[in-house]
Amino acid sequence: MKLRNVSIACAFALAVPLAATADNDNVDIGKLFTGKDRVQQNELYELSLQELRLAGMRMFTNPFTKADGFGDGNDNPPTGSQGQRGTLQGNGTFQRIGGLDAQTCLECHSIISRRTVPMTFGIGGVGGVNNTVLGAGGNTFVDLNLQGRSNLSTTGVTLSQANIDGRVINPPFIFGAGGIELLANEMTDELQTIVKAAKDKDGTYPLIAKGVSFGSITSTDGVIDATNAEGTANLNPAHDDFLVVQPFGRKGNEKSTRTFDIGALSFHFGMGVATSREDEAIVFDSYGERIEITETDHDNDGVHNEVTQGELSALSVFVATAQTPFAKEADSTALHGRQIMQDIGCTECHVPSMNTNGKNLGLRFPEIANNPSANIHTSVDLTGAPMNFAENDNGGITIELFADLKRHYMGPSLAEFDGDAMFTTMRLWGVADTAPYLHDGRALTITDAIVEHGADASSEANGAVTAFSSMNARDKNAVLAFLDTLRSPDGTFDDLQDLAKNLGENKHGHR
Ligand code: HEC
Ligand code: HEC
Repeated sequence: MKLRNVSIACAFALAVPLAATADNDNVDIGKLFTGKDRVQQNELYELSLQELRLAGMRMFTNPFTKADGFGDGNDNPPTGSQGQRGTLQGNGTFQRIGGLDAQTCLECHSIISRRTVPMTFGIGGVGGVNNTVLGAGGNTFVDLNLQGRSNLSTTGVTLSQANIDGRVINPPFIFGAGGIELLANEMTDELQTIVKAAKDKDGTYPLIAKGVSFGSITSTDGVIDATNAEGTANLNPAHDDFLVVQPFGRKGNEKSTRTFDIGALSFHFGMGVATSREDEAIVFDSYGERIEITETDHDNDGVHNEVTQGELSALSVFVATAQTPFAKEADSTALHGRQIMQDIGCTECHVPSMNTNGKNLGLRFPEIANNPSANIHTSVDLTGAPMNFAENDNGGITIELFADLKRHYMGPSLAEFDGDAMFTTMRLWGVADTAPYLHDGRALTITDAIVEHGADASSEANGAVTAFSSMNARDKNAVLAFLDTLRSPDGTFDDLQDLAKNLGENKHGHR
């Protein structure tokens, strides 16, 4: 990949928007990343970390067009038989429910702080209410019939209900994702070591990773019974991702930025990655070795190889090297609030900080779910800029996430359309800046968020939340004062934007 070529070709194309140029006859407005300058997986080692991040930023921020393969195909992972995803009024570009809901990642991940006036915008942030994703369950109905005032009750207006049989999810930020992925990898390693021990020798084994309990397993004649295991998306001992810690997605259902990104590209834009996951395992031959990647047109739109494995790697490097949320200094009120959170049990799920043993995140392809050390193509030192995680005494990093990377049952009122109420503990770092809250953005304030995720007696958070609700105003405010110290990073990806500017990338844009 030659970064410079893209910028020159792009500036030229904008001067003469619709004309094909001899220099690069594929370039057009909004199509900045394709043409001759594609990142291939086997070129990764030629690129510096900064070049990879820049290529990843392009994937994250450039609007995809039909010439790139935008549209169609919402399978995750993409399979061979997709195509003809419907679009609203047949306009060819937009569906909204069930994906095809944006042209670029940045449209939904762009608010760093909602508490400044005006809001602070930047790359990688959260989305507002308008960016809430709708889809994709059965996609058989959208029912707005229960709107209106028919639901007046004696206590006032009750909530009217408009239904969609699909998920409703508000975008979180990507900040700190590299540290989270490393932490999850090490937790997975710890759990897999216990699984292996259980297979070798019968007995009951507590499942503890980084001090967090995932229940226990029992083995008899080498066969594992996982009835008492909890907290990961897959609890079936027969599956490869049994007890794999998956920190991403509000349901804790994706193990890495890479896996997440495959789904995001496909769901939001219909951009398919150049090979199916099954193929990857066969053709990949460890980093730097020969790779044969099948070019595919998974959504039958005539565009082959919409996203290369190299571009996907660059995108996951970009996401994993996002800036880290930080904590402002806590005054005595805030420190009191932090103590209260511990006393009433908030920190059993919102674990203030965890330590890793290593500081290098290995990004991998192909990914083997239960072996995070396999097939590492790029290593990133997370103590380096711009992540700047603090190094701990083990030579690892300290991650002040306020979460346990574990899934919990949150009760029927927080459940999704299909009754599923399992959610991963939301990390509270950055929480002061990131309203709206909870998985579907229903809570517009932090207080609402706290109260609503423990409202049902059956919610695992009920005890802590009931204790919070019964506190006096001073103590409640102390908790809020503490949460107010947890902030999003400033100036996200400034370094890359400067780099892009220096490469002439933004010549055509505003000054
Ligand atoms: C239409 C809005 C929208 C677009 C476009 C979008 N996202 Fe997201 N993003 C979301 C939502 C909603 C979630 C939460 C999903 C879930 O909980 O399953 C999310 C979650 C994520 C996460 C996981 C964060 C975490 O901590 O769990 C990553 C990483 C991510 N997105 C990356 C991307 C990338 C890369 C792109 C572009 C290829 C992208 N997103 C495009 C809405 C969007
Ligand atoms: C049993 C585990 C558990 C306990 C205990 C718990 N929480 Fe949570 N918390 C969660 C989960 C899971 C979510 C995400 C729910 C969702 O996605 O809808 C969450 C979400 C939140 C959010 C919203 C964050 C966001 O960005 O959307 C806040 C704020 C919060 N918790 C604060 C607290 C406080 C304060 C307490 C103590 C009174 C507490 N929690 C107790 C599991 C817990």
